[in-house]
Amino acid sequence: MKLTEKVAVITGGANGIGLAASELFAKEGAKVAMVDFDEVSGVEKASELRSQGLTVEFFQVDVSSEESVHAVMERIAAKWDGIDILINNAGITRDAMLHKLSSSDFKRVLDVNVNGVFYCTQAVVPYLVEKGKGKIINTSSVSGTYGNVGQTNYAAAKAAVIGMTKTWAKELGRKGINVNAVAPGFTETSMVASVPEKVIEQMIAMVPMQRLGKPKDIANAYLFLASDDSDYVNGTVLHVDGGIMM
Ligand SMILES: NC(=O)c1ccc[n+]([C@@H]2O[C@H](COP(=O)([O-])OP(=O)(O)OC[C@H]3O[C@@H](n4cnc5c(N)ncnc54)[C@H](O)[C@@H]3O)[C@@H](O)[C@H]2O)c1
Repeated sequence: MKLTEKVAVITGGANGIGLAASELFAKEGAKVAMVDFDEVSGVEKASELRSQGLTVEFFQVDVSSEESVHAVMERIAAKWDGIDILINNAGITRDAMLHKLSSSDFKRVLDVNVNGVFYCTQAVVPYLVEKGKGKIINTSSVSGTYGNVGQTNYAAAKAAVIGMTKTWAKELGRKGINVNAVAPGFTETSMVASVPEKVIEQMIAMVPMQRLGKPKDIANAYLFLASDDSDYVNGTVLHVDGGIMM
């Protein structure tokens, strides 16, 4: 097992990619704090995973609330005697073409996808420093590296995530903390569920692997970056997109 006794905080852990990561990390021996806004799914999924003998607890929080984030990280660290891994996976979209994008939708996407990553990281870093080793994985997107029609807010946020990743990799490397990002391509979760079938077909046609990503494909990349296997990987953006962008 690759994460024996590690304490992993996975934001957005109640659904989609985060849920796949919660399961995978727990199966690799981690104690998983599934941190999510969605209480209904979080309570249900954490209990399902516990019934398989895995160590998973749900913590309800809105990552865009600085105070709540700090409080929840304190609770997690107190419960399991510290934190080793942070996966900043929670994210939202509010898509619209530039001329139709409201400033409230622009701000909300940045609040969750940028401020949330900042709050969670700032709250967790002291615990990683205490251990002299730690892993932070931030979730970007192909939209953050290449832009995407209808995603001014989301592309801005996911590009910012890459900027923060590289900055923190430089600041925290000397403290034994690796900071990397994963940039998923189109992945089968609720985030793409509302996309019309025709558009999905067009997306698949553009992917050399000829399929959408599965949540487990992304979770596997998180696992690599969270495990000792990646101890000399720092400040990188790992594209997990079937080769759609090269
Ligand atoms: N699915 C894709 O095609 C795709 C592509 C590139 C990047 N991503 C990124 O992957 C990550 C996971 O997305 P997903 O596809 O699994 O989506 P999802 O909607 O299935 O899961 C996102 C999770 O984040 C949680 N969340 C949303 N806002 C929150 C908040 N304010 N506080 C706490 N939790 C919150 C949701 O409740 C949900 O459980 C996101 O950062 C997303 O931007 C997804």
